[in-house]
Formats: sequence, C-alpha cells, structure tokens
Amino acid sequence: MFKNVKYFDVVPSTNQYLKENYKSLANYLVVSADKQTSGRGRLGRVWNDGDDLLFSILIKDKIANPSCLSLVVGSALVKALEKYIKPLIKWPNDILVEKEGKLYKIAGILLEAVTYSELECIIIGIGLNVNTDAFSDDLKDKAMSLKMLTNHKYNKQELLKEFLTVFSQDYHEYLRGNSDYLEIQRSKSCLIGKSFKQDDKDVKVIDILENGNILLEVNGIQFEKSSGEITLQNVYKGV
Ligand code: BTN
Repeated sequence: MFKNVKYFDVVPSTNQYLKENYKSLANYLVVSADKQTSGRGRLGRVWNDGDDLLFSILIKDKIANPSCLSLVVGSALVKALEKYIKPLIKWPNDILVEKEGKLYKIAGILLEAVTYSELECIIIGIGLNVNTDAFSDDLKDKAMSLKMLTNHKYNKQELLKEFLTVFSQDYHEYLRGNSDYLEIQRSKSCLIGKSFKQDDKDVKVIDILENGNILLEVNGIQFEKSSGEITLQNVYKGV
C-alpha cells in the first residue's frame, strides 16, 4: 500500500491533480510536488508553501465510515513526527507544536471526497512545513516548520517514506475496525479539557468520540460537533 509515488516539480495542487485524474489512476497512488501554484487548505483557504512536503493520497476503497479517516491520518502523522518533535493534534486534524508556551501549526490535512451517486474516491492532502526558514507576516504567529523548531534541515522524501510506512499500517488496521487512532487523538489533543468562548458562552471540550465527532459541554449540557474549527485564540486553560 502507498508504495507508488509520482513526483512533480510544480503542480497547481496535488489534491486537484488526483481529483481530475482519479479515474485513470491506481488506488493508493501518492502524488508529491515541490511547489503548488494553487495549494488549497480546509474551509476554502489558500495553502501557501515554502520548502515543504506537499502530497496527496488517492483512496478508491469503499470506506464505510470515511469521517474517521481524517482522524486516522492525523494520528499517523503525529506518530511519524514523534521521532523528531513533540506534535499535538487540534481536532479534527491540524498538527501543532509548542514553542516557548505558544502553539503553532506545523502541518495541515485536507480530506476531499469525490461523490456522484456514490463515493468515487477520497483524496487525502497533507502539507507539512519542513525546511521553510520564515513565514510571511500574516502567518508568522501561527505557523512553524520542522527546521525552525529544531535547527535541522530535513530530507523531505525520507519524511514522506516514514509517514507512508506508519500510515500503511494504521490504514490497514482502520479497515479491520481497529480504533487505536482514537487513543492518539485523545492523548495528543491540545483541546480536551480546555474551554473556549463561543457566542459569549463557555464551551468545554470533553472528548473525541468513536464517530469522529468532538464532544462539547455548555452549562452542563453535552453535545457533539461533527466538523468545523475551534479557534485557538479563544481557548483558555480549563480545569
Ligand atoms: C489545512 O487547511 O490545514 C489543510 C492544508 C492541506 C494542504 C495540502 S498541501 C498538499 C495538498 N494539496 C493541496 O492543495 N492541499 C493539500
């Protein structure tokens, strides 16, 4: 699984490439690019890259519960990065690191499903900030690269290989119904046990559930949230 990697120097977006070509491409193909001219992030955002690892994976399996796949990917990325740093996960799948008491994003994951009458494929896109030396003014308080954090330059293809080794195993286990990824999601979460303000209410993060949702609590009433984003600026330390 995930042994076949196609490299591009420049491509508009590795996710977009797989979206446009999935019909003629093999299941489990990985597409990696040195540069993207129209890299995309979650919630319609732009993904700007420097000297980073940018790749997408094509999944054509008929997955029964695709919402948890993004948690599997996040947990595999954390496991692969633990060799170098101490990564944390911000549900659903931002990978963060702490530096001098502040949290910064080091990797983002964008899962896209192509559906007509039924699920055609899932595309997993990952952007890992690797050898970037500095971020633009609008990102410098939010983003971090492996190099900025550890003062080392990394071999991007080596990192890709390491991630794919972990993910192959975890994806296989996930298809067999194993939910070990939840333990990583919970133990490495930077949100569980914290509270944040939303519409003037105190919202406490209780757990990440088997169905991939996050469990929240307001005024003693618990409810689930299935997607979206929790803004870190509003998070404060909880009990
Ligand atoms: C996020 O917003 O956090 C997700 C970012 C995902 C970026 C990666 S880079 C490789 C792949 N191609 C894209 O256009 N986006 C994803």
